[in-house]
Amino acid sequence: MHLHRRLTQAIQKSNQTPILPPEMKTWFLILAFVGAFMSTSAQNLRPWWQRTSIYQIYPRSFQDSDGDGIGDLQGIISRLDYVQDLGFETIWISPFYASPQGDFGYDISDYRNIAPEYGKLADAERLIAEVHRRGMKIVFDMVLNHTSDQHPWFLESQSSHNNPKADWYIWRNGRGTGGMRPPTNWSSIPGPCGWHYNATRKQWYFASFLPFQPDLNYANPAVKAAMKDVLRFWLAKGVDGFRLDIFNAIIKDTQFRDNPFTLHYLPTKDGMKARFQKRIHTVNHPGNFALAKEMRAVVDEFPDRFLVGEVFGEHPTISKFLGQKQDGLNLIFLFDMLFYEFDAAFFRARLEEYERYYAWPKAPTFVVGNHDNKRSIGRVDGDLQKAKLLAVLQLSTRGVPVIYYGEEIGMLDAEIAKKDALDPLSHMYKSVPTWLRKRLPVPLNRDVCRTPMQWSLQANAGFAAEDAAPWLPFSSEVETRNVATQIGDTNSLLQVYRSMLHLRKQYPALQNGKLRCLPEANYAKNMLVIERQGDGPKITIYLNFNDKSVQLNDRNFARKALYELGKGTKKDGTHLTVGAYGALIVRGESIFEVY
Ligand code: NOJ
Ligand code: MG
Repeated sequence: MHLHRRLTQAIQKSNQTPILPPEMKTWFLILAFVGAFMSTSAQNLRPWWQRTSIYQIYPRSFQDSDGDGIGDLQGIISRLDYVQDLGFETIWISPFYASPQGDFGYDISDYRNIAPEYGKLADAERLIAEVHRRGMKIVFDMVLNHTSDQHPWFLESQSSHNNPKADWYIWRNGRGTGGMRPPTNWSSIPGPCGWHYNATRKQWYFASFLPFQPDLNYANPAVKAAMKDVLRFWLAKGVDGFRLDIFNAIIKDTQFRDNPFTLHYLPTKDGMKARFQKRIHTVNHPGNFALAKEMRAVVDEFPDRFLVGEVFGEHPTISKFLGQKQDGLNLIFLFDMLFYEFDAAFFRARLEEYERYYAWPKAPTFVVGNHDNKRSIGRVDGDLQKAKLLAVLQLSTRGVPVIYYGEEIGMLDAEIAKKDALDPLSHMYKSVPTWLRKRLPVPLNRDVCRTPMQWSLQANAGFAAEDAAPWLPFSSEVETRNVATQIGDTNSLLQVYRSMLHLRKQYPALQNGKLRCLPEANYAKNMLVIERQGDGPKITIYLNFNDKSVQLNDRNFARKALYELGKGTKKDGTHLTVGAYGALIVRGESIFEVY
């Protein structure tokens, strides 16, 4: 990374060389040559985490190995060949540390141990080794913001005002008579008041998420030091990086001022306004940008590691997490694509925005789903052809694509009655009726997107032994949306992911080349054309969001088709045809280009 920065500076300097005296011309030519060489090879020097592709595993639902109906680490190990064969380079696994599982692992009670249903510490070590043996990287999920209320730190902290951990959480006296009103108006991220009264301490503690997830107090240096040591513990075991849970909520206003009033009651898209308050004192507080640098310094104590943060807000704000000198979080999740509209204009606008805010040397991410959201295919009513087009787009743009397990086979949201929900969020919102839940953009019962992986047509879809009772029901259409069936079908969604992931490896321009969306005016309506330029040939990607095929005149016969998606998509001597919801990737540039 440092070498890379130096090279970039050298290139910039050589480009700015003023007019040279004649005797220095030879030197100038040599310099220019070296500069040009370095600017091309600069792309090969880009760090692995900017070029990688990430597969997210929800451990409870991936593969059960011991018949208890709950996925586990041995199960994940047994499926690593699958993930590798698909072509993914990095695996991120949601938390499997010791936890009372109130929020299914996002409430940790021991950061250095594994929950018994997932395995033992030795299994985690074996998992790391097995991932590395396959040439892949592994990212753990790290919840720095809060612990479980069963964590020994919290149990001690709440026991009195003067115990050694008394200041490890955010404790305040309440307002009003007897201090029975919350200390500030701060709401939690899910919505209700974030303060909770503790009868033992006779004080309030703050929780950014659910009441049993008390926030740690980072104003206390001992807390910060303890959490940095947790990172080091796993880094020393070989973990390649961390996904940082609600990283933008960790630092709050130290003066405990009320959040200002706004007219918004329902959360805005960027999550910054809700419940009649602008969350300026509780979310994206500038202290979090500084914390990003501190945590980066910790992972940089180890070679080649990285951090990807779960943050939300507007791009001018959240891009600050990356640091002005690329010295903050290495990547942040960008969530705009979660709520995609299936048309070219939507994606073009987002990609152009990403190029504005995350231009090289930064890199964007491309996320369409995760364990908190409705499954992405639901936005196109389960349509597999449209999902294929989305996959081609996701895997051919600049930045890091993050794929949630099951997305590759088009897994659908499960239908789960409100009364059967296990997700604590669903219980918090138990008064919201089913008809309204269906209309909300986010699921109140996140169980729907966390159902067991559909591996095959065997009993329990190959997720667990025949006589096991999976912890959640299966989603529908398992007969077609399963790995075994789709592996055997060259036309399947799974095969699109596989081909695209392998194409990315073959043509590095697809991973880290520059990206440009070509002007819509040159093409049919609702057609998105993207150009990638990196080392080697330029690559052009045609994505047809129309329900009918589109023919383009193309006089550049020499171009080679690298990938064709959709019925009727072909490149012949005279034409390029892109079928309905199809895509075409060619080597070479577009003849329509206008600058
Ligand atoms: C965000 C995680 O993605 C979600 O699943 C979890 O419930 C909250 N953070 C609290 O940790
Ligand atoms: Mg199990």
